[in-house]
Amino acid sequence: MKEAQDAPRVGIHFPPGIPDKVSEEVSRIAQIFTVDGESLRRITDHFVRELDRGLTHEDSDIPMNVTWAMKYPTGYETGQYLTIDMGGTNIRVCNVILTEEKGGYEITQSKFKLPRGLKTGTADELWNYVADRVAEFLVEHDLHPGEEKLPLAFTFSYPVTQENIRHGVLQRWTKGFDIAGVEGHDVVAQLEEALEVRNVPVRVVALVNDTTGTLIASAYRDPQVKIGSIFGTGCNSAYLERCGRVPKIAGYELPDDQPVAINTEYGAFDNSHQVLPRCQFDVEVDRTSPRPGQQTYEKMVAGLYVGEIARLILIHLHDTSGFLEGADISRLRRVNSMESSCVSKMEEDGSATESVMAETRAILNEQFGIEPTLQELRVCCLIGEIVCTRAARLYACGIAAICKKEGLETGRVGVDGSTFEKLFRFKTRAAAALREIMDWPDDVEDLVTFVQAEDGSGIGAALIAALSSDCPHGPARVS
Ligand code: BGC
Repeated sequence: MKEAQDAPRVGIHFPPGIPDKVSEEVSRIAQIFTVDGESLRRITDHFVRELDRGLTHEDSDIPMNVTWAMKYPTGYETGQYLTIDMGGTNIRVCNVILTEEKGGYEITQSKFKLPRGLKTGTADELWNYVADRVAEFLVEHDLHPGEEKLPLAFTFSYPVTQENIRHGVLQRWTKGFDIAGVEGHDVVAQLEEALEVRNVPVRVVALVNDTTGTLIASAYRDPQVKIGSIFGTGCNSAYLERCGRVPKIAGYELPDDQPVAINTEYGAFDNSHQVLPRCQFDVEVDRTSPRPGQQTYEKMVAGLYVGEIARLILIHLHDTSGFLEGADISRLRRVNSMESSCVSKMEEDGSATESVMAETRAILNEQFGIEPTLQELRVCCLIGEIVCTRAARLYACGIAAICKKEGLETGRVGVDGSTFEKLFRFKTRAAAALREIMDWPDDVEDLVTFVQAEDGSGIGAALIAALSSDCPHGPARVS
C-alpha cells in the first residue's frame, strides 16, 4: 500500500537554531497529529457503520437528516425564486430565474454583512434582520409579486428535523452560533412570522441545507457528481439515497427506489469518542465552544477550528518549551483570535525555499503584536502543516465512507466552502488520503475526484424549490 506523501512529517528536520526543547515538543505534537493509512481506514469503517445506523431508528452520532429533496433536475425546470443563504459572516439574497433554455438561469444578488452580536443574540433579532434584508432586496430590485406571494428557498445550514420540504426544527446550532429561542423550533415558521409582520410578500417553499443545494446544483451541470460537500466554516456532505434503504421513513410508504437527498450532518461523527484521535488541543477547542460535546469531527477538521487548534499549539509551545520566549503573547491568548487563513498562510509561506516568511511575520506582528525570529517563524510554518494535513486527511474519511456505503466506485464530489480552495494544499492532501483509504492501484488515476461545486445556495436552492413544486408539502405521513 502506497502511503500518501502528504502525511505530516513525523521525523521532522529542524533548521539550526531551534532550541532542543521546542523541537522535541513539536516532534511529539507532529506524532500525535499523524493519521496513518491504517488509522484512516479504521476511522472510515466506523464512519460507514454510523452512516448506516443514522438511517435507522437506532441511536447514531450522525443524524442522517431526510431533506425531502426527491429528485435530480432535468435541466428543464423553470420559474422565479427568491433565495436566502444565511452564512456565518454574510446573508445573501438572490432572485433566480430558471429559464426555458435547458440548464439556463439568470441571477441577481445582494450580500449583507451579519451584524456583530447577531450570532449570540435572540431569535427575534435574527429573524427581524433576515426579513428586513428580504424587504430591502425587493425594493432595491423592484420586485413586485402578482396575486401570489413570491416563492422563497431558504438555505439554512444547520441540522434540522424536517417533516416536509417547507419545515425544519433546529436540532442544535453549530459553527459557533448560539441564538436563544431557535433550537427545538421550526425555523420556517419563525422566519415567516417575521415576514408577515412586515407585510413582505414572500412565502417559504423550500428549506435547504447548503450540502443538498450544492449536490443538486453540481449534478445539474455534471451528472457524475454524486456527493455535495461543504468544507468551509463547517464540514458536511449530502448524497441521494433510495427510500427503501432509509428504515426511519418506512412509515411514509414511499417506493423503495424513490430517491431522497440525505443531509448526513456528519460533523457530529464520533460525538461518542470511539475512534477519532482526539488530543488535548481538540478537547480544549470543544470545551470553549458554545456547544461542548457536539460536532466532534467538524471541530477537528473544519475552517472555523483549524486556526484555533494552531493557536492553542503555539501557546502550549510558549508555556512549556520557551517558544517565543520573552514575547508578550496576550493577544494570541484570546480564544478564536487566529483565522484558518492565517494558518494556511504560515504553511504556504514556509514552503518557499528562499523565503524570509514576510507574510507570516506581518500577520503575527499586526494581529498579535509578536516579533518572531526566523526560527520561530519556521516553527509556526510546521504547526500550520501539521494541523492542515490532519484536517485534510480526516476530511477524506467522510467522503470515503459515503463512497463505501453506497458502493460508489467512480464519480465526482462537488465541494464548496471558503476553506476548500484557500487552505494550502488541502485538495491535494484530501485526494491523496482518499486514494489511500480506497486502495486504488498505483497505475489507476483517482476514481473519485473533488471538483469545485456550482452555486448551491442560489441555483441549487431554486432548483430544489422548483422540483418540489408539484409536491410542496412532501409526502403524506402514513403512520
Ligand atoms: C452544519 C451543517 C452544514 C455545515 C457546512 C455544519 O456546522 O451543521 O448543516 O452543512 O456546517 O456549512
